[in-house]
Amino acid sequence: MLITFEGIDGSGKTTQSKKLYEFLREKGLDVSLYREPGGTPLGEELRDILINKELNERTELLLFEGARTQLVLERLKPDMERGMVVILDRFTDSTLAYQGYGRGLDLEFVKKLNEFASFGIKPDITFLLDIEPETAVGRIREKSRFDNVDFLKKVREGFLEIARKESERVVVLDTHRGEEEVFGDIKETLSVRFPEKFDF
Ligand code: TYD
Repeated sequence: MLITFEGIDGSGKTTQSKKLYEFLREKGLDVSLYREPGGTPLGEELRDILINKELNERTELLLFEGARTQLVLERLKPDMERGMVVILDRFTDSTLAYQGYGRGLDLEFVKKLNEFASFGIKPDITFLLDIEPETAVGRIREKSRFDNVDFLKKVREGFLEIARKESERVVVLDTHRGEEEVFGDIKETLSVRFPEKFDF
């Protein structure tokens, strides 16, 4: 099973993905948590470049996808084959939202590349943590070159468009609310959608 968390910078997805990881572990489930870009030695090196260097948008796209391929091969596939629950802090929707809707790269091309880089693996469920860019930017502790309000507005619209198109898979959560309230919705959604796996 693959659960992904998506949202703009400062939306709280890192906090929520860690909370879910701890919660499922305490429940005795075999679970892993990775972040994109990252999660492998090469992925972490690419992450450093992607966050800190000014790059052409095509280079940016290709490096995100490269980091993803390594993560899928080295971590995601082996874990899923062992029957683990895998939680990802960002996955293919981030690339479509940031490089497609945000940077303006061709959406269909980005989708194809996403599929290529991830070997066609799709999340079973995606939590989109939705927030106003103005509020989100105020919450960010470690600034990156993606934290610009006008850019994040386009990215947010992209995420919401993906959620409209794939409403079965993508669950939108309003994160202007408190952390515990949002986490309550996540637990409830999982137990309703997958009662055989999560009976809490
Ligand atoms: P992340 O560490 O999740 O940022 P934060 O914790 O601040 O939300 O991701 C790093 C940055 O990489 C983030 O600004 C979003 C960007 N990103 C893309 O532009 N495309 C992608 O495909 C991915 C995975 C991330």
